[in-house]
Amino acid sequence: MLRGDGVYRRTLLIAGTGAALASLARPHLLRAATGALEKTLSAGEGRVQIAPKPYPPTAVWCYDGSVPGPEIRIRQGERVRIAVENRLPQNTTVHWHGIRVPNTMDGAPYVTQPPIRPEASFTYEFAVPDAGTYWYHSHDHSSEQIGRGLYGAFVIEEHDPPPVDRDVLWVLGDFRLLPDAGIAGGFGNPMEMAMSGRVGNTVTIEGRVRDRFPVRAGERIRLRLVNAAAARIFGLEFTGHRPLVVALDGQPIEPHAPDGSRVVLAPAQRVDLVLDMTGQAGSTATVRDTFYEGLAYKLIDIAYSGEKPLRAQPPAPFAELPRNTMPEPDVSKAQRHEVTLTGGMMGGMGMMGGMMGGAMWAINGVVVPGGDMRHMQPILTLTRGKSYILSIDNRTAWHHPMHLHGHSFRVVTRNGKETRYRAWRDTVLMPPRERAEIAFVADNPGDWMFHCHILDHQDGGMMSVIRVA
Ligand code: C2O
Ligand code: CU
Repeated sequence: MLRGDGVYRRTLLIAGTGAALASLARPHLLRAATGALEKTLSAGEGRVQIAPKPYPPTAVWCYDGSVPGPEIRIRQGERVRIAVENRLPQNTTVHWHGIRVPNTMDGAPYVTQPPIRPEASFTYEFAVPDAGTYWYHSHDHSSEQIGRGLYGAFVIEEHDPPPVDRDVLWVLGDFRLLPDAGIAGGFGNPMEMAMSGRVGNTVTIEGRVRDRFPVRAGERIRLRLVNAAAARIFGLEFTGHRPLVVALDGQPIEPHAPDGSRVVLAPAQRVDLVLDMTGQAGSTATVRDTFYEGLAYKLIDIAYSGEKPLRAQPPAPFAELPRNTMPEPDVSKAQRHEVTLTGGMMGGMGMMGGMMGGAMWAINGVVVPGGDMRHMQPILTLTRGKSYILSIDNRTAWHHPMHLHGHSFRVVTRNGKETRYRAWRDTVLMPPRERAEIAFVADNPGDWMFHCHILDHQDGGMMSVIRVA
C-alpha cells in the first residue's frame, strides 16, 4: 500500500537547499571499491537567500554552497567515506551528531583529531550502525561556525522503512540578521553566554524563512525535525493536528502524542513525527513555536491543496519503528556517577561559578577556560562494556541540552520519578533546577565529549570529556 519515497534510495544522495520541500531529484554518488559511499564536503563561504526577498542574499559559512549543507541519506549498515575540505578562514572539524562512530571519526578537535586547518582536508570513514534522523555540524569554533550555517542533515533509513506517503525533512535554523540580511557579528558575547546563549531573530526551515508547507488532505507524512540552532529551543504546536512522536534523537519510541500537544526540540535534538493530514482540502493551519513565554510566533502555515483527499479513511495506526542496536543498560547493576551543572547568571545574585578566562559554566566544578579543548582531562573514566547511570543535576537557572558523544542513553528518571518511555537519546534537555538520570552501556572506547549544546555555554566552559577505557 503506502510507500514512502524514502524506500527507493539506495545510494548516498544530495539535496540542495530546500529540496526537501520540493520534489526530490538528487545526483547519485559513486560506490568505492571498499563498498563505502563516497563524497567530498567542502566547508567554505557562500551566499544564500535566508530572508525572503526583497532582502538580499546572506553571506554565510556553509557546506557545498548551501544551508543546510547537502542532505546525506543512506541505509542502515552502509559505510560512508567523506572527505572534508576546509575553505574557511579558520580551523574546523565535522561531528556526526548522534551516530555511534569509532572515536577517531568523531570530529572533536584536540580530543579525537587535530583540527582541519584552512586549505587542508580530513577524510571521515565509518559505517552507520543505527537507522534514524541525525545531523552533522562543525565542532570547532562551534557557536560561530554553526551560527553562520555549517550544518546539515544525515538521515539513515531503516532496512524496511515504514509506510508513509512522504518523508519530509525540516532542519530548523536560527540566524541573527542585520537589517541588510547580513549575519550580525558579536559571537561569544559574555552577557549572552551567561544567559540563554545567542538566540537569533530569523528562524529558518531548510535554510530559509518559509511561509507555507503544501500538503494534500488525507496524506500521511513522516516529518523529521532537526534543531540546528545554536541556542534556540523550539516548542511546536500543530494547530488542529495530532502529531505522533515516533522517534527521538533518531531512536524509535512507542508512538505517542507529545506532552501538552507541544513538540519540544532543544538544540541538537531531533524528533520524527507522523503527521496525518486530517484538515479540509483548501484549508490552512498554523504551526506555532510557543516555547519562550510571551515570544510565540508563527513558524509556517500548513496549506492544503484543493485536491480531494488522498484516501477516504485514515491509514492504519503507525507501528513502532524497529529498534536500533544499542545494548540495554542493566540499571540494577549500573554504577552511578553524579554530574553537577553550575554557573551562569542567577537573577539578582550575579554570576555563579566565576569568570576564569571567560569561562562561566562548569561541569562537576571544572570550567574549561575559553572553551579551549586542548588540555581537557576526563571527568570520568568508565570501563568498556559496563552499565552506568549519570545523575545530572542542573543547579543553574537556565536550560541545558546535554549531549554525550559516541553513545545513546536512556533517560530513566526525572526529578526522581521514572520516565514513561525511558526514551533513548543522545541529547537530554535539562530544565532549570532539574535532575535527570541517564543510563547506558559504555561500549564505545575512546575519549568522548559531554557538553551543553547551547554553543555559547559550551564555549563558556560547559564541556567535558568522559573516557571509556
Ligand atoms: Cu552536536 Cu559535541 O555536538
Ligand atoms: Cu547550557
